[in-house]
Amino acid sequence: MCGIVGFAANDDIRKKLLSSLRKLEYRGYDSSGMSLKIREGTLNIKTAGRIDLLEEKLNSLYLCDDVKTGIAHTRWATHGKPTQSNAHPHTSFDGKIQVVHNGIIENADEIKQMLSAEGIKFVSETDTEAIAHLFAKHYKGSFVEAMLKIRPLLAGSYALAILAKDKPDSIFAVCRKSPLILARGENQNILASDISAVGNEAQLFTVLGDDEMAVITKEDISVFTRDGKKKQAVFIPVPEESTDITKNGFDTFMRKEIDEQGGRVRETLQEGIKNGEIDVNFSGLPVDFLKNIRKVHIAACGSAYHAGIAAKYLVESIAKTECEAVFASELRYKDTHFNENDLMLLISQSGETADTLAALRKAKENNVKTLSIVNNTLSTMERESDFVFRTKAGAEIAVATTKAFSCQLAAVYLLSLSLAKAKGMLTKEDEAGAVDTLNKLPVYINSLIQKENEIKTLSKRLSLASSVFFIGRLLDFAAAEEGALKLKEISYIFADSFPAGELKHGTISLIAEGTPVVAIATQEKIFEKTLSNIKEVKARGAFVIAICFEKDAHRLSFCDKVITLPDTPDILSVSLSVVPLQLLSYHTALLLGNDIDKPRNLAKSVTVE
Ligand code: F6R
Repeated sequence: MCGIVGFAANDDIRKKLLSSLRKLEYRGYDSSGMSLKIREGTLNIKTAGRIDLLEEKLNSLYLCDDVKTGIAHTRWATHGKPTQSNAHPHTSFDGKIQVVHNGIIENADEIKQMLSAEGIKFVSETDTEAIAHLFAKHYKGSFVEAMLKIRPLLAGSYALAILAKDKPDSIFAVCRKSPLILARGENQNILASDISAVGNEAQLFTVLGDDEMAVITKEDISVFTRDGKKKQAVFIPVPEESTDITKNGFDTFMRKEIDEQGGRVRETLQEGIKNGEIDVNFSGLPVDFLKNIRKVHIAACGSAYHAGIAAKYLVESIAKTECEAVFASELRYKDTHFNENDLMLLISQSGETADTLAALRKAKENNVKTLSIVNNTLSTMERESDFVFRTKAGAEIAVATTKAFSCQLAAVYLLSLSLAKAKGMLTKEDEAGAVDTLNKLPVYINSLIQKENEIKTLSKRLSLASSVFFIGRLLDFAAAEEGALKLKEISYIFADSFPAGELKHGTISLIAEGTPVVAIATQEKIFEKTLSNIKEVKARGAFVIAICFEKDAHRLSFCDKVITLPDTPDILSVSLSVVPLQLLSYHTALLLGNDIDKPRNLAKSVTVE
């Protein structure tokens, strides 16, 4: 993981590199660095910690000339601790090559051994340093020729930006299984891990294909096929949403993104509701195929997997179709029995998550049709899937997902209803009812955000806890999982989630006087069962925060706090219960003084296994 960026321009690029790096911090932010072409050669500046420290270092240096060519990197450590020496760029043994890298070289140890035997000294613990030395060894003035020689020696994934001493105005770029875009701006050409990092600097961009190569100068971008032949790349306009990413008056991106949820969910739902009917175009997925689906396999990671759990319950209950949700990191290695009438559903905000991509590729190898629910436009997942549904969450910057998760849920409702409709299991009345409720969902989400002050009062209690438990049955379990993950990732408080009936099979021994338990109880058909489980923890001294529909609040009045949701058919409950859960985690983390948008050890886009 990590973000890379490079500029070849007519004017000074230092501020541009810093600003783009900040936009790439979602890919990792434990250390950073840049390599700048200056009159005397190349200047490398690196630091552990946040980009502010890199900026301080950069500002402390006096340079007589403008810097017009350079590359930069923000890191999420995979090989070696986040120290200054492990920060990129990495320099070759002869000092002539600088490399920034996103990805993982799986055979780095082998390469290290080989190069060390030749007398080359390694100064970092990273896999990237091996590339710098290997490239320098084979580079005789032609990037493409050197790359063709070293490519067979590199196993793993990489997006690389390389500076060579003998080509002061050029940046070399190549990628394999790690994203890289090339962009044209006014008097400048650019490369980056993601268009949103440089959207304000460019008008046109293209995505570099696997094993393709490019040489970037301020005048031109030359693209080469995997065989080293020059090719005409097609550049398209930069999407408008990539050009302006601000907090819009909020203190954090996460809080802003929570606020945007209603509108973004509305836009996502509008993709699939036409003239009062469920009418979704999953980029051409034939209705006949939907009709004959035997089983839906779902693979996703983290919060997207929680949307997958909700999808499983919905596909089973609305479309009466077998469905299994599996962590993508497990699915890629487990024995799965696919059938040609199965559908593999991938859910991913970024469309770049390595494990989810591997699950997609596994399904394709097994001739199973793949459908991806993605948010990032032009992602690898989108390119490789047979069919796609794009959510309308827009750019999500906070590492902890909120609006993208809510939009994934919206997509999942549309898919379950489409499946039910194709299979003839949705009556006209049920369809009209579903459309009516889906249309109200954004308003309900907004009404829950209005409860912020009420929810905030609970955060003090949670901030003092050493552990918090989340329970719920069926769809409420999906919400419980998401609630626990949100709390863990931004507040650093231990949290765990369980189907409410499971707690008494062991974990209830952890419930003591005052232990916070967040209990979600919206599913009517098992409400009484959940109620009993809540009473069990209450009897053991738990401080219970219950989340339920308004109509059921009186049944939970024995709890310490009841947060009510607007009454809705309970199949939509996750979209509602998740909002107070997000706000609860947000205010708890805020009280604890944590960095909300960039929690420790995390990165937004997990492009490594
Ligand atoms: C948690 C969170 C992560 C992601 C997970 C998958 O707040 O954001 O758990 O959901 O890393 O990422 P995507 O959706 O990009 O595949």
